[in-house]
Amino acid sequence: MGRIVFAGAMSHVLDPDYYERACGATGRQKVEAAMREIAAMGERLAATSADALVVVADDHLNAFSFTCVPAICVRIGRTVQRMSQDHAEAFDQVLEHMPTSYPLHEALAGAVLEQGVTAGFDLALSWEAPVDHAFLSPVNTMHGDRPIPPLVPIWVNCFVAPQPTARRCFAFGQHLARVVAASPWRVGIIATGGLSHFPELALARVGETDTVFDRRLIHWMERGEHEPLLDLSADELHKSGSHEFLNWMVLLGAVTPARAVVRYFGELPRINLAAVEWSLG
Ligand SMILES: [Fe+2]
Repeated sequence: MGRIVFAGAMSHVLDPDYYERACGATGRQKVEAAMREIAAMGERLAATSADALVVVADDHLNAFSFTCVPAICVRIGRTVQRMSQDHAEAFDQVLEHMPTSYPLHEALAGAVLEQGVTAGFDLALSWEAPVDHAFLSPVNTMHGDRPIPPLVPIWVNCFVAPQPTARRCFAFGQHLARVVAASPWRVGIIATGGLSHFPELALARVGETDTVFDRRLIHWMERGEHEPLLDLSADELHKSGSHEFLNWMVLLGAVTPARAVVRYFGELPRINLAAVEWSLG
């Protein structure tokens, strides 16, 4: 019988040069501190000898487009390519130093997709979408030079209204846990993004965060109290700039009622950096 052997969530722009440009020396120091904790989380994941790593992240309208915005999309196939863009955003330029191709766990992705559709989740699927910094910055920071286990990338639509609800993302995470439990595999799961940045997706508000809101999320996660998080509305996530917390909601559904252990929380004007791990017992 399979089991989730590791669960963690973290911010996904992990580039000291980027933060030094955006926030000065403090930006560099804080992201480096977060990255040290994320690397240590990777060591603990490696110690579990997981067969697969599920990565729940969001699209930044670079893998998908307004032609089609899937609510939740499972990447299937045997390998996934690192995204390559002619005019990459600054935080995607860090990808250039990373491996170009990553193995996928085809059987687990197929089970998540097929059993999900049977269970009533109208999941999208992709054979071709490449992965950007939201997947590869955390994965590479966690693994360094160690081999990366086969991945199961999953995209959640965090930015284009109407997004899936927090409750629906949590329910999908519960589905992931059921699939893993019925499988023969030991599986790690990470959710990436956030915390608060880019409130209301208003350019005029870049540089603001909502730390009170984020500390409330952390308070509930530390206590394993997930009920209040199910009621988070799209409006609350939009106003606070914690849109990407929907990815974390998937992870919470997969591990509930496990309690979070905060490995790093650091406020910056640009974003609240976080690295959190769950005690799975
Ligand atoms: Fe992002």
